[in-house]
Amino acid sequence: MRIISGIQPSGELHIGNYLGAIKNWIKLQNDSKNNCLFFIADYHSITEDYNPKEKSKEILDLAIDLLALGLDPKKSIIFQQSQIPSHANLAWIFNTITPIGELSRMTQFKDKSEQNKENINVGLFDYPVLMAADILVYKTEAVPVGEDQAQHLELARDLAHRFNSKFGKTFPEPKSLLTETPRIMSLLDPAKKMSKSGGKKSYIALNDSPEIIKEKIKSAVSDVGKEEGKGGNNLLAIFKAFAETKSEKSEYEKFAKDHKAGNLKYAEFKPRLAELIADFFADFRKKHAELSKNPDYVKKVLTEGAEKASVIAEKTLREVKEKVGLMI
Ligand code: ADP
Ligand code: TRP
Repeated sequence: MRIISGIQPSGELHIGNYLGAIKNWIKLQNDSKNNCLFFIADYHSITEDYNPKEKSKEILDLAIDLLALGLDPKKSIIFQQSQIPSHANLAWIFNTITPIGELSRMTQFKDKSEQNKENINVGLFDYPVLMAADILVYKTEAVPVGEDQAQHLELARDLAHRFNSKFGKTFPEPKSLLTETPRIMSLLDPAKKMSKSGGKKSYIALNDSPEIIKEKIKSAVSDVGKEEGKGGNNLLAIFKAFAETKSEKSEYEKFAKDHKAGNLKYAEFKPRLAELIADFFADFRKKHAELSKNPDYVKKVLTEGAEKASVIAEKTLREVKEKVGLMI
């Protein structure tokens, strides 16, 4: 199965990104039946406010994060979106078969325009069309993402279907692949999804030190008022997701049982959860520090990835131009 996913270089990765998406990327890449592509969605990331002096560092840092987490250039094609012109070229053609109404209904666009009233640009509006092109330019069938991307995937399927009926069968209709934790909630507001935009204390970054993780978990909202159960459930879901050994799993069972009975001792549970997360990412922190010393290697991975990806992407673009009637 051909698989693709992307992630924006804008701020640090958090455990929501890991548990909702990247964990699955690594699992899928390690199954030799799959043919995986993973990329840094830098074109998407410039649709929101950013500092042009910081952007290239953010791209490189994200590549380091992904390699340190276990993405392997020997098994997957890893690249930077803007290095492959076919993505944006296909997006342009898709623009011509996308009704404005469908894009206006996108919840992410509505949320981001609300948060970002000064900069509601056409790129932000067109974001899902570029995302559909990212996926379909490789004729991808499956896309591992968190639940918040489901609506964008639906548009990709609609566009594949519309293109196929208008110009002849060209694209598969891609489905999303969710993890067991497709939506991790914010530590400070368990009614909202964990997100960079919620502020540093609302998420645990993969690069947070054990001390910071401890502090953040300590101040995480547990069960209060009308959100009864939500905060606690979220923390338990995080514990479950990081519990790998038999003894960690039975620890989880015990905490979950106590929570259900209404007598979970947070003073015991929270430090243990913090420790579990910090230990889980110990190896990641080490690899991250090593890779940070070798940016040339990381750049080389991206360039070689782009060379491989562009062969597939250019072939699809040629076929599409042919079908649309642009080849003279
Ligand atoms: P953010 O909201 O922090 O900016 P992104 O939009 O960059 O995160 O998301 C990158 C990937 O991580 C996507 O596949 C997205 O679905 C997934 N993801 C983001 N937040 C969460 C979350 N809270 N729970 C599960 N998956 C998430
Ligand atoms: N929109 C995705 C996000 O914010 C990133 C992304 C861009 C993507 N293009 C993609 C994900 C194609 C999967 C496939 O997380």
